[in-house]
Amino acid sequence: PQPSMPVMFDGMALPPFPPLINNAKKRFEDIRSLDCRQDDVLLVAYPKSGTHWIWEIVCMILKQKAEYSKEPKEFLFLEAMPDLDVVRNLPSPRPMNTHLPYRWLPTQHIENGGKIVHVLRNPKDVCVSIFHHAKVAPTVHGDVGDFQTFFKTRFMNPKVKLMGGWFKYEKEFEEAEKKDKRGAIFTVHYENLKKNPIHETRRLADFLNIDLRQEDIAEIVDKCSFQKLKQADETVKDQSVFKESGLPTTLINNLYRKGEIGDWKNHFTVAMNEQFDTVFKEEMRDSDIDIQFE
Ligand code: A3P
Repeated sequence: PQPSMPVMFDGMALPPFPPLINNAKKRFEDIRSLDCRQDDVLLVAYPKSGTHWIWEIVCMILKQKAEYSKEPKEFLFLEAMPDLDVVRNLPSPRPMNTHLPYRWLPTQHIENGGKIVHVLRNPKDVCVSIFHHAKVAPTVHGDVGDFQTFFKTRFMNPKVKLMGGWFKYEKEFEEAEKKDKRGAIFTVHYENLKKNPIHETRRLADFLNIDLRQEDIAEIVDKCSFQKLKQADETVKDQSVFKESGLPTTLINNLYRKGEIGDWKNHFTVAMNEQFDTVFKEEMRDSDIDIQFE
């Protein structure tokens, strides 16, 4: 059935994952009260910020080997996995991932000072990426129309903002990061990783306290390049995880679309760009986040 409105919870329009459609409140509460271990690693990002890419890098760093994992990211995707209990029996370290905003992250993980890798991408490219993602799955997202319609009626519409909207999501994270005295949160900028992958991957490994040789870092970067990851997704990944997730195959086959900085320039009109810049300036007036749009 085609939903006319997305599932709403705590002021957020939610991605149409079966556990959220069934009972969003329960899944959110189960995530918040999850039993955590000291060495759990939580990857947290606003949708379409490069989560799959950075999840692969994090997994390789933790394994200390440039080897693709058979399980896709969806295997440990807290709000989408069919059975959250699966995480209980997994060996450490568990690279869990989520799009939940900071206030809904597992309380115990935060109390433990557990590591959080936060991915940040410029909101114009995020908007474009979400649009293409939604476009291929009209059965779950409804008809989003053309890009201008999507921008107006979805991305900028306060009533249906995905995860409560990019601004609120990222400002909440910034505040948490400022209060984080233990250095538990590490923010990776999509644009920095794209421009300087060796340096950023090294920083990520240092944050995770994993000592890797320079050639290992280089191999991880190479295997996680856009083209290679796209190919690995089709050839290496255990497709049954996708099937069990109940997500439409059109969505799953479109995870690696373009992988560039600045594709927004091919989508935003001058007027849309001006409108967005005005909102951006106002929303981010007290923020120190350095966003790179190109
Ligand atoms: P585009 O739609 O702009 O191509 P997420 O994994 O959070 O859903 O984010 C998806 C976005 O990350 C997509 O953006 C995808 O192409 C991009 N991406 C995935 N792997 C990448 C890589 N290795 N390098 C750069 N971008 C990548």
